[in-house]
Amino acid sequence: MNKLLVSLVLSLGVAGSAHALQGDAEAGQGKVAVCAACHGNDGNSIMPNWPNLAGQGERYLLKQLVEIKEGVRVVPEMTAIVANMSDQDLADAAAFYAAQTPARGVADPELAARGEAIYRGGDLATGLPACTGCHSPTGQGNDPAAYPQLAGQHATYTAKQLTDFREGDRVNDGDAMIMQTIASRLSNKDIEAVSNYIQGLR
Ligand code: HEC
Ligand code: HEC
Repeated sequence: MNKLLVSLVLSLGVAGSAHALQGDAEAGQGKVAVCAACHGNDGNSIMPNWPNLAGQGERYLLKQLVEIKEGVRVVPEMTAIVANMSDQDLADAAAFYAAQTPARGVADPELAARGEAIYRGGDLATGLPACTGCHSPTGQGNDPAAYPQLAGQHATYTAKQLTDFREGDRVNDGDAMIMQTIASRLSNKDIEAVSNYIQGLR
């Protein structure tokens, strides 16, 4: 295991109290009506800059919701909405979306080959690790470790996240700054390619 991985595994051991909450998917269904306008009724959104949430890991979803509420991750579209939700509401919403079925996406074949090489092999020259190590070969992620599912996510959304990590506009990736470090090694072209590959991953 390289240093990056070891420090990440250690930093993820520290979880806030909200993360220990037990979510209830059925209760969550009654609390997400306000979310559907952007994220879709079943967590599959129609606009490429609004992330799909269907089938995303529950731990990861709750971590994001708590951090969006606390302003650690800045999502202006959601600030007013989550401000009125309790941690239990957020846990229930996370459980609901985790239980939904993700829609399948399609990759742009012109970009997919470069994207696949990055995703599966990383880049030795720049010290970029393969994405498979944490997000899994199929892009399902690893929820016990709160590594998010990426498979099928809108390329537009994924590219924005990678750019935000690189530019320091998204900083909620823990003390090890794992995704900020990784994204700093990706060019705009790399980001476009790997985001497209991820959209078609299943
Ligand atoms: C007005 C549109 C809008 C509404 C309504 C909305 N969201 Fe979002 N949501 C967004 C956008 C845009 C992002 C991504 C922002 C970014 O680029 O980082 C996001 C991100 C998220 C994320 C992080 C996803 C990830 O993969 O990291 C979660 C979880 C989420 N929303 C859940 C919810 C829930 C639950 C509700 C309702 C309580 C809700 N959202 C309401 C627009 C919306
Ligand atoms: C050492 C583990 C690790 C590796 C390797 C890794 N990631 Fe991540 N990634 C994470 C973690 C942890 C998060 C969640 C950060 C957080 O909690 O906000 C994440 C989040 C993301 C997100 C945001 C997902 C969302 O829904 O908003 C994207 C996109 C992403 N990674 C892409 C990649 C790509 C592309 C690669 C390969 C170039 C990669 N990651 C390699 C651990 C890793």
